Amino acid sequence: MKKFKLVTTLMVVGLLLLLSACGTSKTGGSEKKTLRVVTDAAYAPFEYQQKGKIVGFDVDFVNAVAKEAGYNVNIEHVGWDPIFVEIEKKTADFAVSAITITPERQESYDFTVPYFLSRNEILVPKGSTIKSAKDLEGKKIAVQNGTTGQEVVEKLFGKNNPNLKKFENNNLAILELKNGGVDAVVADNSVVETYVKNNPKDNFEFIEDDGAFENEFYGLLLPKGSKLKGDLDKAVKAVIDNGTYAKIYKKWFGVEPDTQTLKD
Ligand code: ARG
Repeated sequence: MKKFKLVTTLMVVGLLLLLSACGTSKTGGSEKKTLRVVTDAAYAPFEYQQKGKIVGFDVDFVNAVAKEAGYNVNIEHVGWDPIFVEIEKKTADFAVSAITITPERQESYDFTVPYFLSRNEILVPKGSTIKSAKDLEGKKIAVQNGTTGQEVVEKLFGKNNPNLKKFENNNLAILELKNGGVDAVVADNSVVETYVKNNPKDNFEFIEDDGAFENEFYGLLLPKGSKLKGDLDKAVKAVIDNGTYAKIYKKWFGVEPDTQTLKD
């Protein structure tokens, strides 16, 4: 009887030790899941390559969000069109690429809550006669294929506009403007303005048109029904609310973000 009691006690103690060991290894945090994140790293200052590394506002932002949500991330450059294929096939966990939340995309994909306020803008050589979106009529325009830049130009001048040249990435669209193949590029305002600022020798300027172009909001792109959405939404909100977002924003844009419009 005594022996039986001892054996059971030992067994209980053993079980308790085993349970507590499991507990610490779980809360130890060394086994964070690594998420595969895809991007089109040709869209400075959001994501671009520098000395073989992908850097940019989106990279800093996603790292902050992942840290907040308790994940590791591995951000991989795959290109713009492949992003949507990867997310549709669920070969990547999510995408970050200055991707505007649009009703059409929402039919096939999920987005997190908005994290960035943007608008399309026009890039032209200094002294161009193009002073507004209306002036683009009859002019040769370059856009990145499958972007909202393409969408807004098609909305203005129709879908089969022979003057609209579509490129695989935005850098190629800008190169076409440099080479004189087009009169203007339409792309996201932060990208256009960063280009003008960082490339003074190109002699480009940017044209805003708040009447023609509307507010857009970027979101992280997820496969439809992804279980990650809850975690990421919570982390995006936390990063915006706890001031981390403003820090990253200031680093890349030098000014405070308008977080109120993001939340409305
Ligand atoms: N915001 C625009 C859109 O969603 C352009 C994004 C392009 N992003 C990029 N990394 N090339 O259509």
